[in-house]
Amino acid sequence: MSDQVKPTAMNYDADRPAAENPVKVMDLSLRDGHQSLFATRGRTEDMIPVAEMMDEVGFWAIETWGGATFDTMHRFLNEDPWERLRTLKRYIKKTPFSMLLRAQNLVGYRNYADDLAYAFVDRAAENGMDVFRTFDALNDYRNFETVVKQIKKSGKHFQGCICYTLTEPRLGGEVYNLDYYVNKAKALDDMGADSICIKDMAGLIAPYDAYAIVKAIKEVSKTPVHLHSHFTSGMSPMSHLKAIEAGCDIVDTCMTPYAYRTAHAALEPLVMALLGTNRDTGFDIKKLAAINEVLEKEVMPKYKHLMDDSKISIIDINVLLHQTPGGMLSNLVNQLREMDALDKIDQVYKELPKVRKDLGQIPLVTPTSQIVGIQTVNNVLFDTPEERYKMITAQVKDLCYGLYGKTAVPIDAELQKKALKGYPRGETPITCRPAEVLEPEMEKAKAEIGDLAKDIDDLVLYAIYPVTGKKFLEWKYGVTPAPPEVQPITLDDVKKRDSLVAKAKAGKLVEPKADAPEKSENVRTFNVFVDGEYFSVDVDPTGDFQPMVAAAPVARAAAPAAAPKAAAPAAAPKAAAAPAAAPVAVEGGTPLTAPMPGMVVKYEVAEGAEVKAGDTVVVLEAMKMENNLAAPCDGVVKQLCFASGDSVTKDAVLAVIG
Ligand code: CO
Repeated sequence: MSDQVKPTAMNYDADRPAAENPVKVMDLSLRDGHQSLFATRGRTEDMIPVAEMMDEVGFWAIETWGGATFDTMHRFLNEDPWERLRTLKRYIKKTPFSMLLRAQNLVGYRNYADDLAYAFVDRAAENGMDVFRTFDALNDYRNFETVVKQIKKSGKHFQGCICYTLTEPRLGGEVYNLDYYVNKAKALDDMGADSICIKDMAGLIAPYDAYAIVKAIKEVSKTPVHLHSHFTSGMSPMSHLKAIEAGCDIVDTCMTPYAYRTAHAALEPLVMALLGTNRDTGFDIKKLAAINEVLEKEVMPKYKHLMDDSKISIIDINVLLHQTPGGMLSNLVNQLREMDALDKIDQVYKELPKVRKDLGQIPLVTPTSQIVGIQTVNNVLFDTPEERYKMITAQVKDLCYGLYGKTAVPIDAELQKKALKGYPRGETPITCRPAEVLEPEMEKAKAEIGDLAKDIDDLVLYAIYPVTGKKFLEWKYGVTPAPPEVQPITLDDVKKRDSLVAKAKAGKLVEPKADAPEKSENVRTFNVFVDGEYFSVDVDPTGDFQPMVAAAPVARAAAPAAAPKAAAPAAAPKAAAAPAAAPVAVEGGTPLTAPMPGMVVKYEVAEGAEVKAGDTVVVLEAMKMENNLAAPCDGVVKQLCFASGDSVTKDAVLAVIG
């Protein structure tokens, strides 16, 4: 079969021939699309209106799950992630479902034990998953072994990914060159991959590099090749076309309303570009238009407030400049903004390639993009001329120990030694498959959560997300009420919000009303962006509509995908709904304060315990990374100020040592 795309002149409606080798298409709108554009906040109820129509298009698969959905759904949407699969299956009966699986990281941010990995894949398959798109952030395929065993056992499709990354502006150089990708493809073939995916999460793949890689893989493998490329840098539609010319079998697109920016190329232009060729998708563009209309009118208005409309450009030039995923860059910017350190962004850009190199030149994809990103910010903020890597995150320590797998090049020896000083598992890094040193987790999780987990799906959710998972199960079973922030919004809410924006623009939102009533339990917060300024506006949907607060500009909230804590007050027993305030004077003790905003994961000591300066007192999660915060002095723990799961602001007093 010829690789060439052969156009033919014809009357399309009347005599569109069936293509000899149609390009297959996977739709990403219902997962990566909304994950990329509005922080994974898409709700199941907003997928249903188009689900049956999408089932009629003829997609190779529809991506419905995985990546950040599992986390976001239970944490911010009060939705059971398992239930989404079962619900969508009732509407999408013909088209296979696909999920993004982070190999041994499952749908979380660390490697989990084998028993949990088996259980997760088994349950995903049972609940309706068909295609398991599997990747490892280090491209260390030993991390595939367990999940692949279960994918095959469940009789499902194993798609093996090669994470695409660069160390130079284009393909080549010492590490990530053509040989690297061809060898990875061969390794996936050896593992029995049903298809091979080049996973370009950052939109880095240039059209001619895509051509070269697909061509080279096609020469050594008969396995179908699938290209996943984000639009971020603007290259992906061109890269799709060149990859298709090189014989690429499957590409990923979004429906137009979910396309472009940090999401993916749109489907409709591709359908038209290939129409009448030997690679014609065969899709009916009128059906696609009908889906778009529903999305535009009924779905997208509910989400537009979550989309960053502060920029005119839909392309992120920084990606071309820094070879770093766009989402990661915006997370860094947001994190710096939260810390009032946005002026340090250029230092971060300079430091980032150094940290990445020190950590073994690893690809930048979840979770390694967060690991490298947060460590970079920590270095810029906390390092001194005398000491580098002053605050090393727990995840960097794990990486140095080998818990994520083998890095592309060795980790800097000095950093590794420093990171592993006093590391609980030992100071000598491992070289085996990481999960071999992990203790089984399911029984332990079961003992911890007890009867709150009513079935195996609840238990797996809790095992992967102990803090937020427990909170979700409490909402699910009515132990505690779900806070209003996690409730869906309606088109009616949208109308009210739009009217608020109009008022804000007219300058009518600046004065508080003297006779403002008390906020009810149903109050909800909207982010309103006006001319580059950001307002946080509370709206109480019951009773007569009126704005409740003066809309004072506040620091723009962090990108919700990475650091939504501030926008998601916990239903916390000890702290009020809002994150804790600035530092307070503490009598008779030395405060341990939060160096960054985040969520308290757990306290390592109890009140009354004796600690030495440097002992870990509390573990704080910020941007998904855990930081062990140490006692500032010797003494007795006089007070622990929060509970596990509480959100805290920068400088909040977490504990008092006296
Ligand atoms: Co993606």
